[in-house]
Amino acid sequence: MRSSMVPSTCLAILSLLGLAVTVKCDNQSAPFVENYFKSLQLTYYPPAAQCQDYMVPVNVDYDELQFTATPWQNDYDLTDFLAEVTTRAGAGYPSPLGGSKHINTTYQIAATFCTPKNKIGKEKTVILATHGIGPGREHWNSPFQPEKYNFVQWAIDQGYSVFFYDRLGCGASQKVSGYKTQINTAIAVLQGLARLVRNGQYTAEIGKPNKLALMGFSFGSYTTHGAISLTPEIADAVILTAIGLNTTGLNPNGLVRSFVPRVAALQNPALYGDRDNGYVTWVDKFGLIWNYFKQPNYDPAAVDFVEQSKQPFAVAEFLTLLGGPQDSSNFTGAALHITGETDYIVCDGDCDHIYDEPLSTLYRNAKSLELVLHPGASHHINFHYNATGAFKVITDFLGKNGM
Ligand SMILES: *[C@@H]1O[C@H](CO)[C@@H](O)[C@H](O)[C@H]1NC(C)=O
Ligand SMILES: *[C@@H]1O[C@H](CO)[C@@H](O)[C@H](O)[C@H]1NC(C)=O
Ligand SMILES: *[C@@H]1O[C@H](CO)[C@@H](O)[C@H](O)[C@H]1NC(C)=O
Ligand SMILES: *[C@@H]1O[C@H](CO)[C@@H](O)[C@H](O)[C@H]1NC(C)=O
Ligand SMILES: *[C@@H]1O[C@H](CO)[C@@H](O)[C@H](O)[C@H]1NC(C)=O
Repeated sequence: MRSSMVPSTCLAILSLLGLAVTVKCDNQSAPFVENYFKSLQLTYYPPAAQCQDYMVPVNVDYDELQFTATPWQNDYDLTDFLAEVTTRAGAGYPSPLGGSKHINTTYQIAATFCTPKNKIGKEKTVILATHGIGPGREHWNSPFQPEKYNFVQWAIDQGYSVFFYDRLGCGASQKVSGYKTQINTAIAVLQGLARLVRNGQYTAEIGKPNKLALMGFSFGSYTTHGAISLTPEIADAVILTAIGLNTTGLNPNGLVRSFVPRVAALQNPALYGDRDNGYVTWVDKFGLIWNYFKQPNYDPAAVDFVEQSKQPFAVAEFLTLLGGPQDSSNFTGAALHITGETDYIVCDGDCDHIYDEPLSTLYRNAKSLELVLHPGASHHINFHYNATGAFKVITDFLGKNGM
């Protein structure tokens, strides 16, 4: 790298993160950080935490819906596919997902377990966190202004342990075709990880947890909700962030249109070229802002961090977002759902009056249920100014429920 050729935008990335990373930026319109969010080892660990990274082989056994449309070669084909998918009913376009196939295999999942150095008796409560569509593991462990945006750091400071991982296809985890990876895949991986963590296999020196809380963000919340619906006994508590199940607030066609997806490997070959064309991403940072952020309650620098650390998502995940099992009425643990009041993705921009149902009915047998609309935030509650306000709701909820 000729340092005299490094444009100012690339230097900005470096100083923003405050970290020494390998950068290659010989083209100002296409800056990228090489391998920054692709390695098992993280670039930041909370100072009060003892953390260990693991590559976890997870056995999965699930039914996979088959992608039946023609895989695309470029953004012209992808755009036409998405236009057909969102065309009004009656036009005669076939569903892109067909019959299912049984999958019984092992996936390699990159994970990190952090526990407080200074243990105060809560460290055997483990929060197992599943990120959503867009970020990777660092959704929970932001290297960018961690005192404001890092959930793991917050939870560690309250005495809890956190196990968080890159979902299949993201970060340092195994990459499977984006035409195949879907909500059923994500649910099977989470069920497998929950069993392993419960057994104390990837929890360093704390061994078997006393309590396990599953936490999700967005697609990770739908995944967690699906896993809880299928196997309610896998967790003592469930925390769903950026979740909504009221159909008035869910607007899948609108979402496809506001994401304006592009083939990820073509948008940034250096970062995403290791994934097939079934992996897509929003068009630019304003696509991100439109769906995830609300003015005036965010710092544009936080948006830049989220954009620079983004992970592509599998098109089959997008198509099956709401396709997982929904009936969680057999869950008898404690439940918290917390969503930004103006969440654009799950409430079509306004959660007031449409949040409580059907969540209250689905979780009617939970030993406690707390529904929170977090003020002043859209989808990315972890990256608006008041992120720690949301983090406090989460750890207070655990405390109130004796964990
Ligand atoms: C810079 O990158 C963009 C996007 O990848 C590309 O279209 C353009 O041709 C590149 N410019 C130069 C000078 O390499
Ligand atoms: C899945 O594979 C494992 C190991 O190969 C095997 O023991 C198990 O019976 C299989 N399960 C199903 C449902 O096929
Ligand atoms: C709830 O548990 C009962 C008893 O095991 C079972 O019959 C029922 O199918 C379960 N409901 C759901 C939605 O899984
Ligand atoms: C959505 O919310 C409205 C308003 O509370 C409610 O009447 C409706 O039943 C909810 N929809 C579902 C599917 O629960
Ligand atoms: C910050 O978030 C908490 C939890 O949702 C909320 O109670 C509080 O009012 C928020 N503060 C501001 C200034 O919006």
